[in-house]
Amino acid sequence: MGLIPASFIDELMGRTDIVEVINARVPLKKAGREYKACCPFHGEKTPSFTVSPNKQFYHCFGCGAHGTALGFLMDFEHLSFPEAVEELASLAGLEVPREQSPEGERRVDLYGLLDAVAAFYRDELKRHAPAVDYLKARGVSGATAATFGLGWAPEAWDAVLKRFGRDEETVRRLATAGLLIERDGGGHYDRFRGRVMFPIRDARGRVIAFGGRVLGKDEPKYLNSPETPLFHKGRELYGLYEARQALRQVDRLLVVEGYMDVVGLREAGIPWAVATLGTATTPEHLERLFRVTEEVVFCFDGDRAGRQAAWRALENTLPTLGEGRQVRFLFLPEGEDPDSLVRAEGAAAFTARLARALPLSDYLHDELAARVDMDSMDGRARLAELAKPLVAKVPEGVFRALLVRRIARAVGMDEAAYGRFVDAAAGAAPQAPGRPARQPRPVPGRSSLVRRAVALVVHFPAQAAQVKLPEGLAGLERPGMDLLQALLADVGPRMTTGGLLERWREHDAFPHLQKLATAEMVATEDVAAAELQDCLDRLEEERIRLRHEELFEISRAQPLNPEQRAELKTLDARLARRSGTPG
Ligand code: UTP
Ligand code: MN
Repeated sequence: MGLIPASFIDELMGRTDIVEVINARVPLKKAGREYKACCPFHGEKTPSFTVSPNKQFYHCFGCGAHGTALGFLMDFEHLSFPEAVEELASLAGLEVPREQSPEGERRVDLYGLLDAVAAFYRDELKRHAPAVDYLKARGVSGATAATFGLGWAPEAWDAVLKRFGRDEETVRRLATAGLLIERDGGGHYDRFRGRVMFPIRDARGRVIAFGGRVLGKDEPKYLNSPETPLFHKGRELYGLYEARQALRQVDRLLVVEGYMDVVGLREAGIPWAVATLGTATTPEHLERLFRVTEEVVFCFDGDRAGRQAAWRALENTLPTLGEGRQVRFLFLPEGEDPDSLVRAEGAAAFTARLARALPLSDYLHDELAARVDMDSMDGRARLAELAKPLVAKVPEGVFRALLVRRIARAVGMDEAAYGRFVDAAAGAAPQAPGRPARQPRPVPGRSSLVRRAVALVVHFPAQAAQVKLPEGLAGLERPGMDLLQALLADVGPRMTTGGLLERWREHDAFPHLQKLATAEMVATEDVAAAELQDCLDRLEEERIRLRHEELFEISRAQPLNPEQRAELKTLDARLARRSGTPG
């Protein structure tokens, strides 16, 4: 692992989402609790490549490829371990506590280049009065322009090319960074010409892309950087870095549509707005938002298109809910956007609207209720049906239970009955093609108890952290016992399979543990702790019986010494206590 401290790998794994990492390279589709795609490591037509957000682990049932987020980057991007760490760290907004790798330096070059170009655009803005006037007319102060690093791309085919393209290598890098477009006949020209420039920054504040707006009525109104090695549109949120700079603690984030909405709200004293970049809100956006705050308010136009976008956002949000996360929806009067509205009515009135934003559960209910006739029994039954697949998308937990209650009450149905109805829908996730139907395994024999326990720890490290190591287990000699105990010493309440595995990367057992993580598991999260406890208890029982026999053998040859007698008493007591417990 070289110079990267293990504690940093822990932190990195805690902040990384394998779904986000893989989806940016291999688009994934949600399938039940997991995500699927055609495997990038072998040719196939039906997807057997499976990514588990819970485990933070991927596995292909076709070719057997498997690993953690770091492992995926190493295999897919052909990165070394330190390079993969570097890549994940930059996504998570963390600085790797050691020197840069050469590969990292090349990326740093790209960042440096984008940064220099952003500075150039900023300088150009000062020289171009019409652009300054435009921003002033839109109410943007010099201070806010500076906060967002706004600039001006000169009205020329080669301003950036001339200024920065000193050699072939740099021209190539400028093109890679999305700043130049290649001509059909060879050569390059500037992508952004005659536009107000909005630099898009990553979590660490580095410029990774630009958006540019025309001053007048030309089309397209906004031009964005293309996808580049540094910029993935469906993942970035404009203004997130700036919001985090302004606030020590981000209590909530307002998700709006446009660059100017973010800028205008900031100008009005509301610094916690972010914008999706002309795309719908993706699950990746949501993961990113919820990593920063627990409350997200979506802001949409009150018109038809706005309502449609809101509903899509709701659908994408449902699977990410729970754990204290709160989502609300704010609909604006038709024809207004946050920028125009906050300018017209002021920050106080706008904030008052926010306070009245609809909680997700209300929005879900109201929207569906509007589609049916709530006065008729048929209509109410229809609402229950319409809500079922949506509520089923919410992870099991308090929030889902509340939604179930909400809908059950609205339709006058028994809460428990509706809950079962929803659970059935949630459980009916389609079987992976080519994957055998789950068969309950026979109860493991003694010899496989340790293996079963190790597998349970690997699959459910967070649940394993709740388990108590039985006192009487010490001294049991079985293959794998040492590994099991070391693993149990390693787990924590927030640990995922991927996080645990990364702690073991340097260990001889690493390949074995990875293999275990790919094996089918019969247990589920909710019973994992109990099952593991049961394995450990049975191992303890075995250990007690063996020791008992040993002491008995000794006692046949000679009287036991006081220590041995005391031990025998303790063993008897433990055995008695155990047979007294049901199960
Ligand atoms: P809008 O058309 O609503 O523009 O686009 P706006 O933000 O209100 O812009 P102003 O106030 O006229 O300056 C919303 C967002 O959609 C993306 C941009 O991210 C924009 O901020 N968009 C829009 C594009 O990417 N390209 C376009 O041509 C238009
Ligand atoms: Mn606008």
